[in-house]
Amino acid sequence: MRFLITAGPTREPIDPVRYLSNRSSGKMGYALAKAARNAGHEVTLISGPVSIPAPESTDLVRVETAVEMFDAVKIRINEADVAIFCAAVADYRIKEISAEKIKKNDEEVTLTLMQNPDILGSARSEFGFTGRLVGFAAETENVEANARGKLERKGCDFVVANDVSRRDIGFDRDANEVILFAADGSTMRLDRASKDEIAKAIIQHILTR
Ligand code: C5P
Repeated sequence: MRFLITAGPTREPIDPVRYLSNRSSGKMGYALAKAARNAGHEVTLISGPVSIPAPESTDLVRVETAVEMFDAVKIRINEADVAIFCAAVADYRIKEISAEKIKKNDEEVTLTLMQNPDILGSARSEFGFTGRLVGFAAETENVEANARGKLERKGCDFVVANDVSRRDIGFDRDANEVILFAADGSTMRLDRASKDEIAKAIIQHILTR
């Protein structure tokens, strides 16, 4: 099967030297790419800026901003049988990027942000993707309710939820612990394990159910 996986953060420029981003390391998405490839699948990995090496034998597409990730997904998603959206896409970008480095002249500076496109939310409605669709939900509270809401709103077959308020797992950690919510109402908990092991179990689960 052919997989399309998004990974890492996006980076939204403020001026030529500064940007807005988040703490995503890309480890979970890269682990998923590796697990899918090891299971014999073809993988296109669309990645924001991360500091981990490219996984072998995957088609790696590097992007910076959410808009670039949106475009990269849009032109490739319909070649995929399975799409997994693991990237921590910035919800907002700077409305007017300064052409020059912003100087330290004023006591206060106001940056106006505008909403980025929802890539996962566009998969069914705008891109017309009919394959298996998997989203991630990084929650700090009401994990199940938020994940189930996302599952329905975005037309996902699965949502993988993790609790990002915990410091021992998730963002920038090597370990994770997740709950998989499926559109058929079933739930599967994957107890704390390395991201490689979690990735392998996720790939198996979404293909067999
Ligand atoms: O709604 P929320 O941002 O929490 O949803 C997270 C899921 O949506 C993740 O799978 C993430 O990769 C995806 N997403 C996206 N485009 C955005 C925001 C989130 O694809 N602009």
